[in-house]
Amino acid sequence: MGIPVCISTQSVTTVEEIRDGAPSASLWFQLYVWKNRDLSRSLLERVGKAGVTTLVVTADTLVVTADTPVGPKREYNQRNGFSIPIKPSGRLAWDVVTHPRWLCGVLLRYMVTTGMPTYGHYPQEFRSRVTRPSVAEDVRLENHLNWDDIRDLRRWWRGKLLIKGVLSLRDALKAKEVGADGVVVSAHGARNLDAAPAPIAVLPHIADVLGDKLEILADSGVVRGSDILKYIGSGATSVMVGRLPLWGLAAGGEAGAYALLTMLREEIDITLTMLGIRAPAETRTLATGR
Ligand SMILES: Cc1cc2nc3c(=O)[nH]c(=O)nc-3n(C[C@H](O)[C@H](O)[C@H](O)COP(=O)(O)O)c2cc1C
Repeated sequence: MGIPVCISTQSVTTVEEIRDGAPSASLWFQLYVWKNRDLSRSLLERVGKAGVTTLVVTADTLVVTADTPVGPKREYNQRNGFSIPIKPSGRLAWDVVTHPRWLCGVLLRYMVTTGMPTYGHYPQEFRSRVTRPSVAEDVRLENHLNWDDIRDLRRWWRGKLLIKGVLSLRDALKAKEVGADGVVVSAHGARNLDAAPAPIAVLPHIADVLGDKLEILADSGVVRGSDILKYIGSGATSVMVGRLPLWGLAAGGEAGAYALLTMLREEIDITLTMLGIRAPAETRTLATGR
């Protein structure tokens, strides 16, 4: 669909596998910085390096997530019995047996092919299955990430560098000062800090001051094409979408993800027509009068 896809550090499928399966895709990589910086740097080299067989840069945009210094308290996960490592329970067993399509298409397929999924980007010696805890200190997520780390990443990474999780003008200015190409104004989908401001509330101010100096993306809460236009009208140049295609994927596999992305496209077109404008960027003019 011509939409870039951002691969997480914690993805079970590696960036190389995705590149090989979709050679024309535009891949971005999301970095969680590990305690052991040498390992993080090796991961960056691996991600940035020309693929062993393809000689195509595997990722040209690096997104550093800066908003998760501690594991958030997610009561819905506790309530649903979801944790990593996954803990066996009667409820889990019941869930599995009552979803035979998932059992055969996902769990059993893993069992007979690669075994239980692992964190694909973790160094081999630290790779643990998602059913086992990953406790090695080296690959714990850094909870003291600071601007000097971003300066280091800027030196190590030649491609585009975006800092994700920025929710204040002060941090956006600092991101620019340390050499980032852009920021993702994001509340992590309201999944981290429940008292964080809504990105839409802080975005216009950041865009007013920095819109012509920094690439400004936004995410969190997009469930309609019109939501994308609201972010663009508020000053974002691009918008990222998290859960929506995942819900499509969970419900209907590849076709489900495709259907939801198509739905977003159609809703954007309908909304533009309703507004009497041709391009998403014109929503900014509507919003500001400029
Ligand atoms: C299942 C799931 C896993 C996620 N994993 C990561 C991650 O590894 N790194 C990251 O920066 N954000 C992660 N996020 C947050 C998304 O990148 C994004 O900020 C958020 O989902 C956007 O909100 P939305 O889901 O309402 O569109 C994750 C979100 C979900 C739903």
